[in-house]
Parts: sequence; structure tokens; C-alpha cells
Amino acid sequence: MASQPRICVVGSCMIDLISRVPRLPTLGETLVGHSFHMGYGGKGANQATAAARLGAQVSMVAKVGRDVFGDGTLENFRANGIDTRFVLTDPERFSGVAPILVDDRAENVIVIVPGANYGLSPDDVRAAEAQIQQADILCCQLEVPVATTLEAFRIARSARVVTILNPAPAAPLPDELLALTDICVPNEVEVQMITGRSAQSVSDAMEAARALLVKGPRSVIVTLGSRGAVLVDAETGVHVPSFPVEAVDPTGAGDEFIGALAVLLGEGRPLADAVRDASAAAALSVTRIGTQVSFPTRAELDEFLATRQEAA
Ligand code: RIB
Repeated sequence: MASQPRICVVGSCMIDLISRVPRLPTLGETLVGHSFHMGYGGKGANQATAAARLGAQVSMVAKVGRDVFGDGTLENFRANGIDTRFVLTDPERFSGVAPILVDDRAENVIVIVPGANYGLSPDDVRAAEAQIQQADILCCQLEVPVATTLEAFRIARSARVVTILNPAPAAPLPDELLALTDICVPNEVEVQMITGRSAQSVSDAMEAARALLVKGPRSVIVTLGSRGAVLVDAETGVHVPSFPVEAVDPTGAGDEFIGALAVLLGEGRPLADAVRDASAAAALSVTRIGTQVSFPTRAELDEFLATRQEAA
């Protein structure tokens, strides 16, 4: 693969509306928050931005509304050097938004209102066929219609492009989509919803990952937040611990992990190594408030890894 990997993301764009609160409210309660932060989000856009900040050549296939959020999203992609030729505008629907609460324990809850993201169609993906075929790696999530993701994966597989599926938010998945997936990266909640198996402990997560593996992906990585990640494929099953940091906001950490994973694999790193360093990128992102604004540059990631290696 190329030294500057080419990564295509077919996925969502949201505007994140993050309120920091002392704790998550109970039903019917009004709670006073600490602070409010608005910024660029959406799992697809986050993964694209994470990969671009770490040095990849990134193209995005997405749909935004004809509104101020859509204009800002396009500007933000350009500012990060992301190819926006296939970021389309939906004249009918508003841009996607995501109200998010983050509490003092650095736990979050997220609601997405997809808007224009649900207008991204298989036809839109076919129009971007060459973008996908030219990539080393395709990343998709489930914040656009599943039929759209499936079409992107069909194009990628026929061109031997490596496919990474982040099945988030969890949804019923067609068998064909899992069969076209090279690397499936759910978190503990998503793997539980897909397989019906608990992923509470590391060993449970390993079993759940194996249950997902038999559905078709070549490798499964379950991200477990501060407990790290488990990686399972036909030959191996390993637990990769996380890098301990002082977490303030986990929003987008999973996306940073996937963007970093795509870059490192595109650079030719073995999967287990890539999982370890992608965990470092995710750890860095939780030390800052906000979604994409918390994502590290390559220099920051390299420095963090060098410091941790010296300390070890
Ligand atoms: O994974 C975090 C992201 O989920 C947020 O940026 C939010 O927009 C939702 O898509």
C-alpha cells in the first residue's frame, strides 16, 4: 500500500451539540449543565478527519443540508485537506445534528437526528465509484442507510479495497454486508446488540467477538473504552490494553480509533500493532473536550507514543 494511504469514507456528517453535565439526568428532571460546545461530528466525518490529521489522503462521500451547518461542514472538510467532490447537498432535508451529554465521569449519551444523512443513496455511491475503487481502505458506519453502505462495500470488494465497518449505531445487518467486511469494529454495546452476547468483561468481549467473526468479517475488533480492545481473527485472539490518561470527554474516541487504524493499516502496519497505536490516538482524544477538535495530529501521536515507550 502507498506510504500516504488513500482512505475513502462513505458516511455521516453531524453538528455535535455537547453539554457537559455533572451527571446524566433522570426522567423528567431539569439539570444545570457546566458548559456547552458546538462542533463538527458524525461518525463518518470524524473518521475522515481523524485519518486526514494523521497524514492520509482522504475523500468523503456524504450528504449535508442546504443550510449553515452544511456550509460549515464543507469548509471544515476543506480545512482538513479532505476531498469534498462527493459531499452532496440535499435541498429537502436539514443537516444532521447530534445532541450529546457528557458527565463528570467522562461518560456520554448521544442522540442523532440524521436529516440529510438519510438522503445519501446507493445511486450517490455509484456516482462516486471511482473514488472508492482508487482507495486503499474504505470506512463505513451505520448513520446513513444500510443499503448505501452495502453498495459501497460491493464496489470496494470488487476492486479489492480493504473494508472497515463500524456498525454504529447498532442495527440489524444484512448477511451480505458482514460477508463483505474485512474488519468489523463495534464497541461493547454494539457487539452485544448484534450478537446477543454480553461484552461486560474482556473474556466476554472476546467470546462476543468470536460470535461476530463467524458471521463473515475476516477480523473483529471490539473497543472497550478504558479497558482497551480485543482483536479476534481466524488465528488469534488478543487483548490490547488502553493507554491510561485523564479522560474528560469520550465523544468521538471510537472514530479516532478507526481513522487511526485505517491510516496505520494503509501504511502497512500489522493489525495488532495498528490496534495498539490507534488506541493511543483514541486515548489522546479523550483528554480534550469536543469531538473533532480533540483529534491529535500525527506529530502529537508520535510524541505521545515515544513518551510512553520511554516510560515503559
Ligand atoms: O461517535 C461520535 C459521534 O456519534 C458524534 O460525533 C455524533 O455526531 C455521532 O455521530
